[in-house]
Amino acid sequence: MPSNRTFTMIKPDAIEKGHVGAILNKIIASGFRIVSMKMTQMSLRDAELFYAVHKERPFFGELVAFMSRGPIVAAILEKDNAVDDFRTLIGATNPEEAAEGTLRKQFATSMGENAVHGSDSNENAEIEGAFHFSGREMF
Ligand code: RTP
Ligand code: MG
Repeated sequence: MPSNRTFTMIKPDAIEKGHVGAILNKIIASGFRIVSMKMTQMSLRDAELFYAVHKERPFFGELVAFMSRGPIVAAILEKDNAVDDFRTLIGATNPEEAAEGTLRKQFATSMGENAVHGSDSNENAEIEGAFHFSGREMF
């Protein structure tokens, strides 16, 4: 994936609370173009594979149970400096530390249930995008 792309998921907590429209509006208003998007649900095994980098962390079991408990909206987004700009838009992992105006400040409830995922590098954006989308689903 080119370096002007990132990958995001609107997480199950935000879907359950009906925040999908508001979150997408803010993403688009912040200058991101939607390259790929779908509503889907990860199995527990999918979530374990997606978050394999965290498998030794104490929160791993909780994380994969949460991420597979309901549907998500997965998307590939395009903008100059996409990875860093999207991390700025979502805010800190812990919503109590997230800056005013960020998605996690507005929509997250806790460190675990923090509404939105954003890739942390160009390399991971490419891996994560390819996890959810085929080449024919990228526009
Ligand atoms: P993400 O990957 O979802 O965009 O989040 P992130 O980079 O801000 O945070 P990361 O360190 O990659 O952690 C992945 C997700 O694991 C959950 N988490 N829980 N209870 C905890 O201490 C804890 N720490 C992390 C969060 O859902 C976090 O987004
Ligand atoms: Mg991360």
